[in-house]
Amino acid sequence: MTLSASPISSDITTSDKVYAPQEDSFLLIEQMTTLPGGLVGKTVLDFCTGSGVVAIAAASSGADAVTAVDLCPDAAQCAHDNAVAAGLDIDVVVGSFAEALAAGPYDVVVSNPPYVPAPAIQDQSIRLTGPTQAWDASVDGRLVLDPLCAAAPDLLFTNGTLLIVQSEYSGTRQTVDALRRVGLHVDVIAEQRVEFGPVMKSRATWMWEQGLMDEGCHEETLVVIMATKR
Ligand SMILES: C[S@@+](CC[C@H](N)C(=O)[O-])C[C@H]1O[C@@H](n2cnc3c(N)ncnc32)[C@H](O)[C@@H]1O
Repeated sequence: MTLSASPISSDITTSDKVYAPQEDSFLLIEQMTTLPGGLVGKTVLDFCTGSGVVAIAAASSGADAVTAVDLCPDAAQCAHDNAVAAGLDIDVVVGSFAEALAAGPYDVVVSNPPYVPAPAIQDQSIRLTGPTQAWDASVDGRLVLDPLCAAAPDLLFTNGTLLIVQSEYSGTRQTVDALRRVGLHVDVIAEQRVEFGPVMKSRATWMWEQGLMDEGCHEETLVVIMATKR
């Protein structure tokens, strides 16, 4: 599938095995490309790169070196192909925290991790086909967020910046507190109210039954959290 919903994603190609860029991707890109000081000359890690859309935006914005990490080989191949098609030199790595840490630290770390709360044992009636690993993140949505917060100081150079995008339903406060606990300076720098997409629509009844959201809710707030290492 070639996406044309946004100028940023117009040249990004995905498949049914790879997360197609959407509002969370675009919100993260908007915040990353308007960071004070810009990206020129910086080293950037895009952790959980998927199609590579955020990494490509970083490289297009003048980053000196971009590393893109994803544990899904299909996603990594997709990110590599999109980078080559864009004529950009991005180091795409199949892996997770160990690989990201081994190639770091970085001036800027960006991540749109899986953050959708999901039943511990998947109920086939609410499980969508496709790359559920791209969004499912355990009952509290924090399967990747918590280790990412814990790893943040080691991923960043001093004065480095981390940007994470997530939903209010995976614990904005928990992310802010977790990043402060590891010594980072933290702000919520962007919020965007969006209609539920197909995944959240499919989860809404389960989340309501679990007490994770109000009945009848059909919108969520996406947030971008910025953390700096001083
Ligand atoms: C929500 S998608 C984001 C894709 C892309 N960055 C974007 O914004 O459009 C999350 C991605 O994280 C990857 N992923 C999930 N768990 C991971 C982990 N522990 N380490 C690295 N990548 C992971 C998935 O394979 C998926 O491609």
